[in-house]
Amino acid sequence: MRYITIALSKGRLTELSIDLLEGAGLDCSELKENSRKLILSDEKNKVRFFLAKPADVPVYVEYGAADIGIVGKDTLLEEGRDLYEVLNLGFAKCRMCVAGPRELEGKMDSITITRVATKYPEIARNYFRHKRRESVEIIKLSGSVELAPLVGLSEVIVDLVETGRTLKENGLVVLDTIADISARMVVNRVSMKMENERIRRLIDAIRAQLKE
Ligand code: PRP
Repeated sequence: MRYITIALSKGRLTELSIDLLEGAGLDCSELKENSRKLILSDEKNKVRFFLAKPADVPVYVEYGAADIGIVGKDTLLEEGRDLYEVLNLGFAKCRMCVAGPRELEGKMDSITITRVATKYPEIARNYFRHKRRESVEIIKLSGSVELAPLVGLSEVIVDLVETGRTLKENGLVVLDTIADISARMVVNRVSMKMENERIRRLIDAIRAQLKE
């Protein structure tokens, strides 16, 4: 029997992803050790795990280097990879939004936007391409995107909003919601056929916990 390989997102999603896999009957003890080892395994179930930067998880899964991935919908939308999205895991919920200064509230259709700052250039580009006629310049940042309208780098931002606290404390508001975001389970297209039974069983075991 070959190993089924699962790619997990490093960071916010890691702990809850491990809880789900454990709940589905996998032995994650090696994964929970704070070691420098990159590939951890559950020998009994012939499953291997590795942690990767969230943006890399869909890449590993698309190429079949991982059979399964757990990753945020934000990353899936941004990466646009060819994968099966099999489960909405329902945790790490937030919204992908267009946000900007309070003065722009209700004026999105009448103002001219020239620059948009974001960590998600593809999502921002798609949104503005479909929603608006004028072309906007998308400026890619690596974090603290809320800073951009405050210092005049852009009029608006495209970013994740969870509690809304970061926006509020900086005098910014949601101007439009682009998508609801949460953690998802994705599967490589070939693996889904070749290892259908084992992968189905794992999907069912995870789904059963989501209903509880
Ligand atoms: C995320 C996101 C927002 C913030 C939203 O940033 O990009 O900045 O969380 O959360 P809130 O609505 O609960 O305030 P993160 O903390 O990942 O840091 P970053 O901005 O450096 O990416």
